[in-house]
Formats: sequence, C-alpha cells, structure tokens
Amino acid sequence: MSTTRFLTGITTTGTPHLGNFVGSIRPSVEASLRPGVQSFYFLADYHALIKCEDPVRIQRSTLEIAASWLAAGLNPDHVVFYRQSDIPEIPELNWLLSCVTGKGLLNRAHAYKASQDKNAEAGREADDGVTAGLFMYPVLMGADILLFKAHKVPVGRDQVQHIEMARDIASSFNHLYGEHFVLPEAAVDEHVALLPGLDGRKMSKSYNNTIPLFTPRDQLRKLIMGLLTDSRPPGEPKDTEGSALFQIYQAFATEAETEALRQHYAAGIAWGDAKQILFERVDQVITPMRDRYESLMADPGQIEDTLLAGAERARTLATPFTRELRTAVGLRSLRTQSAPAQTAKAAKTAKTALPSFKQYRETDGQFYFKLLAADGKLLLQSTGFRAPKDAGQAIGRLQKEPDALQALAAQLPAVPGVTETEVAEALNALRAAAAAA
Ligand code: TRP
Repeated sequence: MSTTRFLTGITTTGTPHLGNFVGSIRPSVEASLRPGVQSFYFLADYHALIKCEDPVRIQRSTLEIAASWLAAGLNPDHVVFYRQSDIPEIPELNWLLSCVTGKGLLNRAHAYKASQDKNAEAGREADDGVTAGLFMYPVLMGADILLFKAHKVPVGRDQVQHIEMARDIASSFNHLYGEHFVLPEAAVDEHVALLPGLDGRKMSKSYNNTIPLFTPRDQLRKLIMGLLTDSRPPGEPKDTEGSALFQIYQAFATEAETEALRQHYAAGIAWGDAKQILFERVDQVITPMRDRYESLMADPGQIEDTLLAGAERARTLATPFTRELRTAVGLRSLRTQSAPAQTAKAAKTAKTALPSFKQYRETDGQFYFKLLAADGKLLLQSTGFRAPKDAGQAIGRLQKEPDALQALAAQLPAVPGVTETEVAEALNALRAAAAAA
C-alpha cells in the first residue's frame, strides 16, 4: 500500500482549549494511527511571530501545545513531531518560493484582505499595521507543506485558500524548474464538531469564551457551571437544538449517553443538573490526559528533547531535498559546471559537462559501476554485483532518489580524496539535468 503523507501545523500563540481538542487534536491523533498514513505535525512558531510580539507567550504556548498533543496520545516515535523553527530548510525554501510567487496572488489572500478591509472601514491607509510577515504568511505555509511533499493537509475551512495557494506556488516552481514538488490538497473533515464556547458562540480565543483543555478539575467545574443557558426553570422541557451545553456533551459522550441526555432535556432536567452531567463526562475524558499533561509540563527538558529528535528526523528528508532544490534553481557549487540553461535542448548539448556512470564487468565475473565527475575524476566505485541488473538498479536509484547514497552505503565504500559533498553535488547535477530534460 502506498502511504499518504499528512502534515499540519499549529500556530503557537495560545493555550489549547476544548474546541481545539475536539476539532483538531483528537481527530489528528486518531488519523495518525490509521494504516497507510504517515503524519507530520509541527508547532508553527515562525507563524506565531506574525500574530504575537510577546516572547514569553510564544515560548509558553509552544510548551503547552506540545505537552497537550503528547498528553492526548500523539506518539512521537510514530509521527514526525517537530518545531518549525528547528528546521532551517523552511525559511530557506520560503525564499525560493517567494521568488516564484506572484505578488498579485498574495494580494488576494483572505487574511490580508481582511486587514485591508478593516483599515478601509476605519478610514486608515490600506496597509496600515500590515507587516510583510502577514503578507507573506501563505508563502511560509507553502514552504512548510512543500518541503515535506505532503499529500494531504488537515485544516479548518479558513485555511483552505492557503493550501490552494501552496498548490499554485508549487506548480509555478515545477513549471520553471522541473517536477520537484507534490501538489498538496486540503483535507477538511466535515464530521468534526465545531464546539460552542461558554457564551454559545464558536469557542475561540478571540471571543474569550474558551474552556482551557487542561484547566484544573475545580476550575473546569466552575467554567461549566457558568455556561450560558436559557432561563427555563426545572421541570420545563428544554431544547437540545441550539443548546451549547448539549453540543459540548455530544462531542464527549457516546451516542447512547447523548440520547439519554436528550430525554432528560425533554423531561425538564434542571440546568444545574445538566451542567453537572456535562462536567463529569468531560472530566472523565480529560482526567487521564490531564495527569500526563501535568507530568509533561513539569519536565520541559523532556519535551525539548522530543522536539529536537523530531526535527532531526524531519531534516533527514528536508536537507537532501533542499540540496536538490538549490541545485535546480542554480545555487550550485562552482566546481561542477552543469547545463547552462534549463531547457531540454541545452541540457542535452551540455551532456559532456555532466558527471557520468560507467558500468562494467571485471575478471572476477561480477558487475561494477563507477561515477566519474565531468572532468573524469573518480567519485564513486561500487563493490561487485552478481547480476548486471542489480548494478543497473543501484545506478537508477542514485540518479533518482536523493537518499539513495545512504541506502546503498554498503555497496559504495568511500573513495580516498573524495568528499561526500562532491558526490552529492555530482548526483544533484545529474538529477537536475534529468528533471530539465
Ligand atoms: N496557518 C495555520 C493555522 O493558523 C497553521 C499552519 C502553519 C499550518 N503552517 C501550516 C497548517 C502548514 C497546515 C500546514 O491554523
């Protein structure tokens, strides 16, 4: 089965609340356990800088969000869990993408337009208070996604336009420099519950109506007791339709439990009793996670280590891919002169300037290959293969897969006087020429 790669980022500006849990954390953790899925989850702290200028809050939020996801069951051995700012390839790719992104495309971004509309309403200059960071937000998000060749990006509705822009940007790059990027798709889950907040509007930091996910038990009880309801007295039947209390309950309870509460509503349960039922049900789900959360929060060093290990794993993909992209756009070592232009014709005429593979048979009956630089210098020398097909396959992999050098290390002992960079650059030059052909 081929694997589908899911990737999503969480901006580190706030404290996770019940709405985040139901709408994002819980479904993401569940999705990460499905077979055939490879998941990348990261803390988008570069994005946080666009919205928040409080360093203490950024750090605190990074810790709280990381601890929340881990407490909710995210397994960092199974998914790649990292912090955006630990991946220097992201800002690097951000620049490469900036150079193929039309300014007009960014002018149309909803978030940017919303800021402009607000300014217009207030009679201010159109770009008043708009940073270049906000304007470039979709490009950075494109870099997050494209760097890891994600197929699916689980996001809320408000983010769908950003994924479409990432596709546009990827297509522009591919058109100019060859097929390097996977075109990502937004994955919007229609089934996840949108949780109402304490005042009945959507639970959101901006409405100040949230219930923090890991607030202490007595605080959770207090908040739930303050949930807005109508003023029907005990004994009078209540409406489930439009009841925030009922909707929150539904997101935490089984179908049978939800049905039972529906009947209590019809029978005129007192709001105080309904709130008690809600509190106990939510608390039952949260308590085991809260215990894990508290022990994680007590040991930030452990979370730091987890994130750094995740970044290291992420970079085993990001680093060679970025090398490939740099070569593709022409940020290349001067040692290897390759095709002077990107056109297929130019690549063909420049063939003599490229490194080359030579395959041959030795007197021992085995099949060997070597890689020669454009100037004839020996860069790689294989050990013997029993069949010519095997040697050919190894060459094929070296020409196509950026990670092949590592994978085939056992057949490719180091050649004295040749650096790893020289070999990588020669292979990159071959791949870039193949991509341009
Ligand atoms: N912009 C996203 C949000 O506010 C967070 C984010 C940053 C993201 N980079 C991403 C989401 C890449 C998905 C993929 O929710």
